[in-house]
Amino acid sequence: RVGQKNMTPIQISTEDRVFVLTGAGISAESGLATFRDSDGLWSGHRVEDVATPEAWIADPELVWRFYSQRRRDARLAEPNPAHRALAALESAIGDRFFLCTQNVDDLHERAGSVRMIHMHGQLFESRCEDECGRPVFSDEKHYDSLATIGRCACGARIRPHIVWFGEVPLEMETIQREIERCTVLLVVGTSGVVYPAASFVHWANQRNRVGRQQVRTVYVGPEAPANAAAFTQVVLGKAGDVLPGLFEFS
Ligand code: APR
Repeated sequence: RVGQKNMTPIQISTEDRVFVLTGAGISAESGLATFRDSDGLWSGHRVEDVATPEAWIADPELVWRFYSQRRRDARLAEPNPAHRALAALESAIGDRFFLCTQNVDDLHERAGSVRMIHMHGQLFESRCEDECGRPVFSDEKHYDSLATIGRCACGARIRPHIVWFGEVPLEMETIQREIERCTVLLVVGTSGVVYPAASFVHWANQRNRVGRQQVRTVYVGPEAPANAAAFTQVVLGKAGDVLPGLFEFS
């Protein structure tokens, strides 16, 4: 069930609906560091120490610099064959495809994905830290100044539109609805330790237990994730090598 040889293509029929969850591993071949593979360090800080509401209160400039650096890295990166394979799958099956990424980079969009959401927010958006009701900012002047944190029209500071440790992920109702109706759940490049994303495979399996439509669950990445035992199939390999040949249409 687990292994490189187990590259059985996923058969996609006209009845199938595919839900895809991606993590930092899908952007690794684009040159963006994952969290846990690189010891999770940034300039000597643990990522957990710069990606929390507590860090923003204690040292907002440090947090802002961290995200400015990540924006620069993301701008220099290009989508890789794995991002493109998912965009091609969406082109093939249209609205029977749904992509949920934990990544805050924009490589999926730049590869052409449309039916997608960022459950942990986006690097290229910011918002009022007081939640004054103004919509999320996506214009550069609100996030692109390296050292200075911008101000919302209400006077409060703006903060990155990122879901920090301990905060509630975005779009959970949409995610639940899409998992509830998928027939294939594909997870790519995530270590399976951060919840709730790590439990999506369990949500899909729960449907199997209550005797409804069977959901095929497939993981793709170079090493087995923490929740590997929950998947129907684990394909060990780099996303950019595996995804372009993974789907067959019937
Ligand atoms: N192709 C596919 N997977 C890869 C590749 C690759 N080329 N290279 C590495 N990986 C896998 C690793 O084996 C690992 O399982 O990507 C995974 C990266 O795991 P993490 O660094 O833990 O990243 P992720 O699971 O996305 O983190 C989840 O934690 O820090 C928070 O909010 C942040 O969204 C993030 C969340």
